[in-house]
Amino acid sequence: MPGVRLWGGRFESEPQEEVLAYTSSLPYDRRLARHDVEGSRAHVRMLRDRGILSGEEAAQLLEGLDAVAREIQEGSFPFRPELEDVHTCVEARLRELVGEVAGKLHTARSRNDQVALDMHLYLRERVRELDGAVRTLQVSILDLAERHRDLIMPGYTHLQPAQPVLFAHHLLAYFFMLQRDRERLAFCREQLDRMPLGAAALAGTGFPIDPGRVAAELGFSRLYDNSMDAVSDRDYVVDVLSACALIMIHLGRLGEELVLWTSREFGFLELDDSYTTGSSIMPQKKNPDVAELVRGRVGRVVGQLTGFLMVLKGLPLTYARDLQEDKEAAFGALDTTLASLQVMAGMVATARPRAEAMVRACRGGLLTATDLADYLARKGMPFRQAHELVGRIVRYCLERQKELWELTTEEYAAFSPLFGDDVREHVTLEASVRARTSPGGTAPASVAAQLEKARALAGTSPRGMV
Ligand code: ARG
Repeated sequence: MPGVRLWGGRFESEPQEEVLAYTSSLPYDRRLARHDVEGSRAHVRMLRDRGILSGEEAAQLLEGLDAVAREIQEGSFPFRPELEDVHTCVEARLRELVGEVAGKLHTARSRNDQVALDMHLYLRERVRELDGAVRTLQVSILDLAERHRDLIMPGYTHLQPAQPVLFAHHLLAYFFMLQRDRERLAFCREQLDRMPLGAAALAGTGFPIDPGRVAAELGFSRLYDNSMDAVSDRDYVVDVLSACALIMIHLGRLGEELVLWTSREFGFLELDDSYTTGSSIMPQKKNPDVAELVRGRVGRVVGQLTGFLMVLKGLPLTYARDLQEDKEAAFGALDTTLASLQVMAGMVATARPRAEAMVRACRGGLLTATDLADYLARKGMPFRQAHELVGRIVRYCLERQKELWELTTEEYAAFSPLFGDDVREHVTLEASVRARTSPGGTAPASVAAQLEKARALAGTSPRGMV
């Protein structure tokens, strides 16, 4: 009877303890157990239908696999630490349950195509879950925007106050950013829609297998065209890692905004107490640690992406054990990204904007200077010239600590005869916002259109996400 290893025959001695510890993937690939069984079931049915296994053998194997699946679900499955990976554990348990026929499960299969299939099945599920979490965050953002449709805040470039915008407009930028993340996840889903089982170790198999049947049973619409590619491809892992990395970059940017906005200097936002922490020494503190940690964990996920790209760099065909490194990278990135999305959704949902602080921040910064230049340009002055002239008005205001809407008709007239009495009503914060009616702009009507589109997008799945 073969030992607990899947490859004992040609070896005289057992691996060193430290070798097992160094090479084992069980501590992390145990989360593939369910998918491993799912793949094996489809494999057995195909082997039976092709006459490679008898009906009796297949029935015994399927019954055993069902029992294993139940144990995994109930949490009673014995993951034996002395075994090197989840595939070995499942097969060893199957042998305990059904006896020697378990040895037939691996007919026309290698762990190389098996692990590739498991990862496809696993990632497919996680990508869907991630898409749901992105959508939940989008809905939190959208709800916050809708609850505060009229709030005006400074919009920034170079982190210098630039032009007044609607708070809802600013938030919606994140909504649409996240929508692209969902499109990227849908792309990942498409890339994962290729079934590798049947490649065997690398060269295919002489058994009359039917990979199309396995694919159909497992819900894949395509096969790999080349068995060597099938066992050495990890591009789909890179796709998932890059999608996670960019989601994290986006969350980190939003996290940074929350850190800034909740600072005393900005004061634009109050986070709910339940999403903040205190200081062990300074009793007055309320810190945005959650947002900071999201920002900080971007580094981790980007590291997992670049780290795994380095694993792939220069790797010759086909399977090499290096590829086992895909798991900790992918699992870690998925876990961190999912948790970050969830905590962000809760933080955004419970945040309270501070209208007065936003309006106060718009004062003194002459944020409507562009509107003044636009006013002159509409009266025929070339924009460059208008820009220059308004620059001088800005200096005039700064010296006198005046707002553009506070200058008198006479003061304006001294700069240009083109200024009429109506000029002041063009340079208020509200007028400035109202004027920006271009598609995607900050005017209430444009923002309403964005809200409407966002609401519709939040209710649907991107193409490819099935
Ligand atoms: N634990 C391995 C991995 O994740 C499974 C495949 C092992 N194959 C092999 N020929 N050693 O990549």
